[in-house]
Formats: sequence, C-alpha cells, structure tokens
Amino acid sequence: IFEAVALLLAFIHFSIPLAYYWYAKAVWLKKPWNIKADLNYTPRVTVIVPTYNEATLIQQKLDDIAAQDYPRDSLEVIVVDSASTDRTPEIAEEWARGNNLQVKVLREPVRRGKAHALNTALSHATGEVVVVSDADSTWATRDTLRRAVAVLADPSVGAVTCIKVPAGRSPGRVEETYRGYYNTLRVAESKKHSTPVFHGELAAFRRKLLDEVKAFPTYTGSDDSHTATLIALKGYRAVALEDLVCVEFLPTRGYTSWRVRRAQHLVQHFAYTLKRVPRAPRGLKPILVAEAYLHLLNPWLLLAAAILLSAAAAKGDVLAAAALSAGILLLALKPYRTWIASQLYLILGSLRNLSGKGIAWEKT
Ligand code: GDD
Ligand code: MN
Repeated sequence: IFEAVALLLAFIHFSIPLAYYWYAKAVWLKKPWNIKADLNYTPRVTVIVPTYNEATLIQQKLDDIAAQDYPRDSLEVIVVDSASTDRTPEIAEEWARGNNLQVKVLREPVRRGKAHALNTALSHATGEVVVVSDADSTWATRDTLRRAVAVLADPSVGAVTCIKVPAGRSPGRVEETYRGYYNTLRVAESKKHSTPVFHGELAAFRRKLLDEVKAFPTYTGSDDSHTATLIALKGYRAVALEDLVCVEFLPTRGYTSWRVRRAQHLVQHFAYTLKRVPRAPRGLKPILVAEAYLHLLNPWLLLAAAILLSAAAAKGDVLAAAALSAGILLLALKPYRTWIASQLYLILGSLRNLSGKGIAWEKT
C-alpha cells in the first residue's frame, strides 16, 4: 500500500508540471500577443540600479546602460546604494562626472534591502516609466530598453520583463538547462495574460501603477515578481518578451545558497499571491493557480514519495527498492537532475521561510 501511494504521488508530481508545460507550449505560446508595441513611444524613463557592494560591476553596468539607443534627454539613471562597505557609490559618482548620461547617486545610510532602496529611488524618479535593473546583469542588445518601453505604449500593458540567459557555469550546467524550460513558460504565460515571475535584470513598470500598488513590497524578497503580479491583478498585463534578453551573472561561489534564497523568495511571493487568486482577472487565474501549486505544494509530493519508498524499501519491498533506484539512476539525465535540484531548492526555501530564517532581503 505504501508503494502504491508513493507511486501515485510521484506520478502526480511529475505529470502536472509536464502537462502544464505541454499545454502552455502547445496552446498559449501559439496565441498572438494582442499588444500594439510602438518603437516611437519614448517617454521619460528612469532606470534604477540598486547596489550593495557592487564596486567590481557598477562601471560595466553604467556603460551598458549608456550604450542603449534610448534618447538621452528622456533617460535618467538612479544608482541607489545602501551603505556599501566598498567604494560602489564613489565609483558611480566618478563615472557620472565623465559621462553625459543623467545619473543621480543616492545613498541610504542603513541597509534595509533592495525593495526599500527602490522605494527611496522612486521618490526621486521623474520617469513616466520606471525600469529596475540589477548591477550583476547586462542587456543583450542596444535596443533592449527601447523595445521594452515600446510595449508599454499599449495601455493594456502595465509591466514588462526580459527572459534570461545565464553567464558563467553552474554546477552540472543545471542552470542552463532549467532556463530553456523556464523561459518558454514565461513567454507562454505572457501571451495568455501575464507571467507571475519577473526578473531583476530588467523589470519595467508604468510609474502610475507603481504608485497604485504602493511601490515595491518590502515584505518579500521577490519584489520584482510580486510588484508585477499586483499590477496584473489590477487587470493590466505583465509580460516577458522572447526578444528581450538579459544576461544574468551566476554567482562564482555560494551557488546552492543563492538558489535556495531565490526559491525562498518565490515561495514568499506565491504565498502572498494565493490570497488574491479568487479575485484575479479571468485570463490570469489559471496561471496563478498553476504556478502557486507548482511552487508551494508540488515539491512536497516528491519528498513524500521518496520517504514512503525508502520506508518500504527498508522493510524489504523489492518493487519500492527498484522504483527508488530508478529514481536515483535517472539523475544521470540532465533535465531530470535539473528538475530534482529545483524541487529540493523549493523545499529548502519553504523550510527556511517556515523557520523564519533569512530576512526577505538578505544577500548572501
Ligand atoms: N540598494 C540596495 N540595498 N541594493 C541591494 C541591496 C540592498 O540592501 N541588496 C541587494 N542589492 C542589489 C544588488 O547589488 C544587485 O544589484 C541587486 O540588488 C540584486 O541583488 P542580488 O544579490 O544580485 O540578488 P539575486 O540575484 O539573488 O536576486 C535578484 O533576482 C531575483 C530574481 O530575478 C534580485 O533582483 C531579486 O529581487 C529578484 O527577485
Ligand atoms: Mn543577482
């Protein structure tokens, strides 16, 4: 009986995400965008770069923004630093003196996290469109910003994000494999209505809507995703575009704790989102239900199945032992290994949330 329950749980665990992926790819991804982008729409834009100890990256980041073909007189950059212990704000100020880009460098005296810093920057921002971009990322092409903003010319769109390609190597190349599956889902969800997962590498918002959702939430580490989702819940679309590509630098050390922290933030985001699902716009509801299930519940079915099978195998059940061995041998396959790893991160992230460890904004 143990093993029957275990196999059922494992079946549900694997078949629901596969079915969701298949459906999103086969049905939603084929839909037209129904968005009227306008490349001549160039409102005033504020790009906010939050920094904490980014001395090695901030110059390159500002160079990358300066290389954008967005009209200079409509572009403002705010670097908001929170008490870095390296020379990040000084380097940004030096850079600004030698460049004709409009740059403000703000310093928070105490570090209270990325979202808090974004809100400080917001009170100084003059753009009609606000774009957040992490220091440890670059945009793939010179027209990335212009194409992101062009989508906001459509009044039905409230927020725009990129898809991601990792730079650097992750252990076992799991990050690279995970991204393909992940990016397809983001774009498919966006075509259907909105994606509830946004990226700090490029997250563009209509300023008016940021004010309506009371700026960036400081109660979850997924400030970008949660803000976008709150905007989507108001009926606007929050979309990831397949031709907006951001490069994300993978951490050179502490890869596992970085992934656990990311998962922890996503779990927080979906836990907060869950309460609002009943009042979600029609097109958004199935996406939120599926993603909340996949992040909050589904990983635990795998854990339960593994525990039940181990217990049965320990009692000498041959079938259970065989199923367990098969599950372990399959780890040789990269997509499977990638999936299992992501499930473990979600479980560890949930446990950390439950134990109250790791404040929302903690940076490792
Ligand atoms: N001003 C300020 N204050 N900036 C901060 C702080 C802070 O307390 N903590 C981090 N930052 C800056 C970093 O310097 C970097 O530019 C950016 O915020 C993101 O921080 P990372 O430490 O690189 O975060 P991450 O890579 O784990 O997570 C990012 O991606 C997630 C998913 O895409 C963040 O953007 C998350 O907000 C996002 O959910
Ligand atoms: Mn980062």
